[in-house]
Amino acid sequence: MAKLKISGVSKAYGATVALSRGDLELEAGEVHVLIGSNGSGKSTLCKIVAGSVKPDAGEVLLDGKPVTVSGPQAAKALGIGIFYQELSLAARRTVEENICLPDLPMRGPFVDRRALSEKAARYIALFDGVTGGGFAADATVDVLRADQRQLVEIMKALATEAPVLIFDEPTSALDRAQVDRFFEILRRLKAEGRAMVFISHRMDEIFAIGDSVTVLRDGRTVGTSRIADTTPAEVVRLMVGEEQAQAAPAAAAETVKTDGAGPVGLAVSALAGPGFAGVSFAVRQGEILGFGGLHGQGQSSVLRALFGALPLAAGAVTLKGGAYRPHSPRAAIRAGLAYVSGDRGRDGVIQGRPILENVTPIHFLRNRLTLARPGPLRDKATPAVEALHTRFAGFSHPIGSLSGGNQQKIVIARWLIDRPDVLLLDDPTKGIDLSAKADLFALVRKLAAEGMAIVLYSSEDAELLANSDRILVFNGGRVTRELAGADRTRFNLYEAAYEAA
Ligand SMILES: Nc1ncnc2c1ncn2[C@@H]1O[C@H](COP(=O)(O)OP(=O)(O)O)[C@@H](O)[C@H]1O
Ligand SMILES: [Mg+2]
Repeated sequence: MAKLKISGVSKAYGATVALSRGDLELEAGEVHVLIGSNGSGKSTLCKIVAGSVKPDAGEVLLDGKPVTVSGPQAAKALGIGIFYQELSLAARRTVEENICLPDLPMRGPFVDRRALSEKAARYIALFDGVTGGGFAADATVDVLRADQRQLVEIMKALATEAPVLIFDEPTSALDRAQVDRFFEILRRLKAEGRAMVFISHRMDEIFAIGDSVTVLRDGRTVGTSRIADTTPAEVVRLMVGEEQAQAAPAAAAETVKTDGAGPVGLAVSALAGPGFAGVSFAVRQGEILGFGGLHGQGQSSVLRALFGALPLAAGAVTLKGGAYRPHSPRAAIRAGLAYVSGDRGRDGVIQGRPILENVTPIHFLRNRLTLARPGPLRDKATPAVEALHTRFAGFSHPIGSLSGGNQQKIVIARWLIDRPDVLLLDDPTKGIDLSAKADLFALVRKLAAEGMAIVLYSSEDAELLANSDRILVFNGGRVTRELAGADRTRFNLYEAAYEAA
């Protein structure tokens, strides 16, 4: 009998179906891997088991008996502990307090500080030698690095001593030695008969620690297998889906201009900086070069370093054949670069100021203007704003009079008034609606056709495949695969993204 059995669990948030049919059977004494691309419903499934999300339908059986995990307290009472992907730590509390938070040792009405320290020390000791500098039982969590916080969240989950443990991407910020130590601990827990769910995007980790694997696709469980009976390629095939696996994207065909004819717009060689190394590529004028791979593999950092917003440690850059040394965004703008980010774009709105002031700051900077007459400025701004189908009543209206999507278009338009030579797109559609996305990509394609060199990082695989002439897959801060022409399939993209770096 399965230790934990989840069947037909579903959850919708308004129109978004986070999970349509989640099934999972977890045995005692195993590490059960849960895998699926971003947004496939993994975290939602975990949160349902941990009682922090209430399912719309479905059944959870523990030791064969139906249970209702009505909340985190109920989960604790049932013997279910969880590592939250987004972490659940109290920033201003100490490491030891956080570790013991789900189950504080009490003496009468008071927390027993001594028992608390002793208990925490046992879990901290498990990671002796790999916690790194600055890590201490009495340090507050807000001074710790990302990997150290992840270790505290692991210790906190372990301290529940729960028979069922769920780890939702516990290793994403850990280094090799930390992962090795964590896996030693998991093996011991396995031998003790604990049942564990483990989520990771790394095939090498999955095949090193997993006993079984369940694959989620678009909110439903599409397969389960023993690790010993499957292969990384088969797992990727399940994640992608048979029909999508080998299809090269149709939409990209119309933008393909990579006949090698256009002059090189931007070339970089052996670029290294925070979180990336050995990155070399050239993007031609008229070409859209895609950056793919799992989130946070260096794509964004490379773009920001090229724009002078992050320091470069090594490498050479040429812009339209001439040497270019990125050292500040201001210099980058004047050299003909533009940088559009979905996240940062929203922060870029100058609240309370008119639309005209919001659309022209880059124009001022690039042309070293201090004053300009509104009439000619409006004439300059109009084509870019219209190309994005921005809906607004007039340039003198406050930016706040626009919808969020239209505000975002104004922020994007500010980069396009002076026609940069190179356009760097850093996950540009994050947080914008579908029609705004379509308008943006229609414009990006047009700009490419007119000879702009464009680099596009997108965390949405469909968007990346549909709009890139060529794709560089980033993995562990390096470019590990180049996909061009008919090789630009979802299968190839996933395989390169998920394989060991
Ligand atoms: N609280 C929420 N509100 C709205 N949508 C959500 C919420 N949580 C998750 N979603 C959506 O549900 C889908 C599945 O999310 P998630 O379970 O986090 O996937 P995964 O962990 O596999 O990346 C995504 O499209 C996500 O945007
Ligand atoms: Mg998740």
